[in-house]
Amino acid sequence: MEMIHRYERFFLGSTLVILAIGLVAVISSFFVNDLELPSPVETIDPAELASTPPFDNPGVFQVGENEYDAVITAQSWAFVPGVIQVPAGSKVNFKIGSVDVVHGLIVHGTNVNLTIIPGQVAEATATFDEPGEFLFVCSEYCGILHHNMAGRVIVN
Ligand code: CUA
Repeated sequence: MEMIHRYERFFLGSTLVILAIGLVAVISSFFVNDLELPSPVETIDPAELASTPPFDNPGVFQVGENEYDAVITAQSWAFVPGVIQVPAGSKVNFKIGSVDVVHGLIVHGTNVNLTIIPGQVAEATATFDEPGEFLFVCSEYCGILHHNMAGRVIVN
């Protein structure tokens, strides 16, 4: 006498195969698509953010031959600075902190997708090989003018 009906065995088997495919897809995406888990690299007092370096002087700073730090503060409802200009081929390290509530940062055309939690510095890096304009938007609902919270990376 069979312990498990063969249909039952078939569905158990298919479930394991589907789970295995899902696991392989998630793990391989770390390597194929440079997926990164977000992790807070630094904590910061949101009330003191505007007077704490580097956020006391937001902007774009050259730190290497083709490398820039984009230091950005997020506040309701704007990114400061709202326009980031770099030459084509630049690697840009986004460093961003919030002075008030939770915001987000998605840079179109890149893998940058951050949650900006007050008290934490969010960081991500993207390389802009082609000239063009890349919209960035706030991706966490942060109040009545959330939809206005956007900016542009201009690659020359
Ligand atoms: Cu900031 Cu939505």
